[in-house]
Amino acid sequence: MEVKKFTLITGASRGIGRAFAFECASRGMHLLLVALPDDGLEETKNQIHLRFKVDIIILTLDLRDVGAVRGLYDYCVSQEIMVNMLINNAGVGRAGRFEHLPQQLYLDMLHLNIRALTLLTQSFLPMLKENTPAYILNMSSMEANFPLPYKSVYTGTKNFVYAFSLALREELVSSNVMVSVLCPGPVLTNADGLKRINSMGSRAKMIMLMPEEVAKIGISKLIRGQGMVVPGKINWALTKFMKVLPTNLKMKLLEKLFRTYRDMDS
Ligand SMILES: NC(=O)c1ccc[n+]([C@@H]2O[C@H](COP(=O)([O-])OP(=O)(O)OC[C@H]3O[C@@H](n4cnc5c(N)ncnc54)[C@H](OP(=O)(O)O)[C@@H]3O)[C@@H](O)[C@H]2O)c1
Repeated sequence: MEVKKFTLITGASRGIGRAFAFECASRGMHLLLVALPDDGLEETKNQIHLRFKVDIIILTLDLRDVGAVRGLYDYCVSQEIMVNMLINNAGVGRAGRFEHLPQQLYLDMLHLNIRALTLLTQSFLPMLKENTPAYILNMSSMEANFPLPYKSVYTGTKNFVYAFSLALREELVSSNVMVSVLCPGPVLTNADGLKRINSMGSRAKMIMLMPEEVAKIGISKLIRGQGMVVPGKINWALTKFMKVLPTNLKMKLLEKLFRTYRDMDS
């Protein structure tokens, strides 16, 4: 009998992670969904089951905790869950002046956006290599390509994800484990994001995407083996444009464009 392979998605109870879960289920993939303890995962599972016949395992845990990644990996081994796709989606961010945001929030960003993602990738890599073709999709942001004033720590964490993913992709080039990094612009998900999008007015709305669009593009480009994925034509062009601007000019422009984020902490 053929062993079932699972797609592990972190942060799958809401937003883009939830959209990934639906997108993967629509492609017949079995799912292992992870998020914080609340009703979100159960609801996501029930909604997917109404439309798709796939196996779904849900697991609530806080990936900021030391030992959470080890616990998740050990759970998979003990339950004989074979993962052949890892979607490192869970992440947190907030806008505001660097000195005004609480240190705990910075720790959350570092622990979730960087530490958990790195440890998940390393822990599951041997399993992925045994279940090829295998895939890793890491969630960065369009902001990884340009340091954003008033989102300095978040931008830094997404810059880490971007660089880490592209470097790892090259290390794994002959292993049949594909690595992609997804760099979306604004996506309409949580209330905090909506506040930021509204503060930017029509500019943000022009480049804003829905979670379902991001998930669809992300998964299809991952499977096709694209390294860096920026969903949306305007976002792709903006990313290219920002890369060729001289750094000083770019930073002045970014500070001006994103000044509306400055007082979001208050
Ligand atoms: N939205 C955007 O505009 C945008 C743009 C570019 C990149 N991104 C990135 O895309 C990813 C998803 O963003 P989103 O807007 O969809 O987020 P979201 O709506 O806030 O959902 C976050 C998900 O992560 C889970 N989560 C949060 N903290 C966790 C923890 N400590 N342990 C385990 N799970 C945790 C949440 O679980 P609960 O539901 O249980 O809280 C939820 O399922 C993030 O990495 C974000 O940085 C977002």
